[in-house]
Amino acid sequence: MAIRSKILGTGHYVPERVVTNAELESLMDTTDEWIQQRTGIRERRWIDKECGASDLAKPAAEAALEMAGLEAKDIDAIIFASLSPDYNFPGSGCLMTDLLGIPGTPAVDIRNQCSGFVYGLQIADAYIRSGIYKNVLFIGSEVHSTGLDLSTRGRDVSVIFGDGAGAVLLGPSDDPSQGILTTLAGADGAYAKELWVEMPASRFIPRLTLEGMEEGRHFPRMNGREVFKHAVRKLPDAVVTALKSCELGVEDVDLFIPHQANLRIAEAVQKALGLPDEKVYNNIMHYGNTTAASIPIALDECIRSGRLQRGQLFACGAFGAGFTWGSAIIRF
Ligand code: UT7
Repeated sequence: MAIRSKILGTGHYVPERVVTNAELESLMDTTDEWIQQRTGIRERRWIDKECGASDLAKPAAEAALEMAGLEAKDIDAIIFASLSPDYNFPGSGCLMTDLLGIPGTPAVDIRNQCSGFVYGLQIADAYIRSGIYKNVLFIGSEVHSTGLDLSTRGRDVSVIFGDGAGAVLLGPSDDPSQGILTTLAGADGAYAKELWVEMPASRFIPRLTLEGMEEGRHFPRMNGREVFKHAVRKLPDAVVTALKSCELGVEDVDLFIPHQANLRIAEAVQKALGLPDEKVYNNIMHYGNTTAASIPIALDECIRSGRLQRGQLFACGAFGAGFTWGSAIIRF
């Protein structure tokens, strides 16, 4: 049985269409200055033709397989994290087995929003260390752009979100110095309505009404200040607690990637942790908030650019709708 699970390969994919803040100015009452000042976002990618989260995930998964030197048939299980799956059901993970040509491969769909990566990693790690599955493909993929309120009513949310996919292939390792050291995950449903999409919902008869749509209840709605306040507290806590459980400290971290929700949140978390700029990676300026895809996209960029090297200590932390939060500490 494996001692640890380690990262074998990573990949990401973002749609080609770049949507600048200036373009959003033409759709709603907003300004480039407001968006940059409050969020740090300069542009994001949105799909330019009809496609789903699984379609964005395919090239990301293929890139992860290529980096690992493996083929799709080597994948023993898929974990797919998304708050914007292709359909209500079946889950996008099932669709991936078809897109990758690996029918029969088990596929788990998880709904942990911005914390999808840390939750998914925890499940993958448990699968691998227990010997249930060997090579586990985690995918975080989002198509936000088809579900945003692009009128001024929805501007607080719509300027933030971008489309994209990140994939991480994990497998067993007998080397005790390498791999996932720990993962931490938490949730508190008392805050469910602070960031949510309310409709369609099985608790309503009918699930979706014209009146509900007129009120914008089928769009994501957020109490931004409340989310911000909790994020800057919970996120550093999650990282420090996870490090402590491995008898490590913030000073041991070589690279920290915070979930890319807002550059101001990332900066506040960096300050709370006391990390220097060269140990923190942000790419929200170019992609906006891609939810479950945000950490894996950033991680892939860091690995491909050499910013994260084998043997270095990588930490990540996430916070989002639910509320959910979590962290992971990995010796890459
Ligand atoms: O991934 C995890 C989930 N999301 C987050 O972590 C997001 C957390 N929250 C945030 O990032 C911030 O709260 C926002 C960026 C969403 C908003 O920034 P804020 O500084 O908290 O602004 P606010 O919501 O308090 O709004 C301030 C003003 C309001 O106008 P009034 O009432 O002062 O006249 C808003 O109507 O800014 C207005 N506003 C905008 N103005 C221009 C809200 N959105 C926009 C916009 N453009 N896009």
